[in-house]
Amino acid sequence: MGENKVKIILNFFCKMKEIIIVSDNPGKIKEYQDKLKSYKLIPYKEVLPIEHIPEEEDTFKANAFIKADTVFRILKKPCLADDSGLIVDALPNELGVHSKRFSEEMTDQANNQLLLEKLKDIDQRQAKFKTVICLLIPGEHPRFYQGEVKGKILRKARGNQGFGYDPLFYIEGLNKTLAEMTIDEKNIYSHRAKAIEALIKDIENENIVVF
Ligand code: IMP
Repeated sequence: MGENKVKIILNFFCKMKEIIIVSDNPGKIKEYQDKLKSYKLIPYKEVLPIEHIPEEEDTFKANAFIKADTVFRILKKPCLADDSGLIVDALPNELGVHSKRFSEEMTDQANNQLLLEKLKDIDQRQAKFKTVICLLIPGEHPRFYQGEVKGKILRKARGNQGFGYDPLFYIEGLNKTLAEMTIDEKNIYSHRAKAIEALIKDIENENIVVF
């Protein structure tokens, strides 16, 4: 490899910006890293001995902020966190910001099983996923981005990609659940993909998105 090429590659890596990602979910981190290719995402647990960050607020936005801010206050480096959840029309107030704690066990499998159980006699299956990202950058005010995707809850799980409620979340136009999509496909259609696209656009244009 020529000297120039080595310089270009070294330059590229030196310039690569680092963002701390405040998430314990490897599936989520993978989706972010896949879309934010020109940033190096560092899971907060690799640099901080924090066991658990409580997320007990009433809104996605407040939870996303608390997660990002807890780590930002200590590290003072760019930090990104999101809070996401499933909103099911027939079960208002049951999921949303409580999506993770839906079942007692709080595992993906138990959550999906409980959802199927609660909807077993219900024909109205409309649902949506929502995500709100909070990005904190030193010297800047907090930035927020959101994304949604509409779908419906199937009567039986399909697919084994993704995580969480993906196997039950069916997108009609695509005839697939999120768990039947590759990560590249999910990263086109998902709630998180839309929020990340808003973030990229904002960072690139240095505009501020307020909602
Ligand atoms: P959190 O945003 O990581 O707190 O996620 C809240 C709950 O929603 C957890 O049960 C997640 O598994 C679920 N969830 C969040 N995003 C997704 C997604 O993209 N697909 C499926 N489930 C999700």
